[in-house]
Amino acid sequence: MKNIKAIIFDAYGTLFDVNSAAEKCKDKIGDKWESFANFWRTTQLEYTWLRSLMERHKDFWQITEDSLDKSMKAFNIDLSMKNELLNLYKILSPYKEVPETLKALKEKKFKLSILSNGTPSLLNELVKSNNLENLFDDIFSIEEVGVYKPHSKVYDIPIKKYKIEKNEVAFLSANTWDVSGGGNYGYQSIWVNRNNNIFDNLDFKANIEIEDLSGLLNKF
Ligand code: LAC
Repeated sequence: MKNIKAIIFDAYGTLFDVNSAAEKCKDKIGDKWESFANFWRTTQLEYTWLRSLMERHKDFWQITEDSLDKSMKAFNIDLSMKNELLNLYKILSPYKEVPETLKALKEKKFKLSILSNGTPSLLNELVKSNNLENLFDDIFSIEEVGVYKPHSKVYDIPIKKYKIEKNEVAFLSANTWDVSGGGNYGYQSIWVNRNNNIFDNLDFKANIEIEDLSGLLNKF
């Protein structure tokens, strides 16, 4: 990848493991913890898209709670666990290669930032609780534009701030639809395909596919 002036990361599912909150409660939830975690995540994302289309914005923390309510009912999970799950969601774990890879990229003097659906306070807490706060130049939240990914207003945020061309951004996401969104907007997009998934048919293919973040180090 050439002429990259900023490397921009999606947060949830790309840097931080969205299933780690439910996984930490798997003794209480039982075998269904992973299906429950996937249902919660899917519902959360659906609510971001639906609210954007309905023009009824609520922030990502409220959406996380709303989607958790539905998911707990759907999986018959005792409602007394709600606060525990929400508190764990605030301190999701990063994927294991993330801290080292970010440090190595930072040493190469790349501008590193996050562009996420999360609120500024959620994202700040996530990076702080994982000791990653010194590695990012900026943490961009969709709250600045009040609409969720993949709206082009979201991908515009770092372009306006850095005054660079769209194709000077390397944008990484593990979420296929976000890779398509960023790529469709004009970023050079990289799909972090951790689980050998199938890509979407949204008239866009990622410039590069890697298995985890460490695959980035020989790409620039
Ligand atoms: C985010 C969602 C897409 O962090 O994972 O923006």
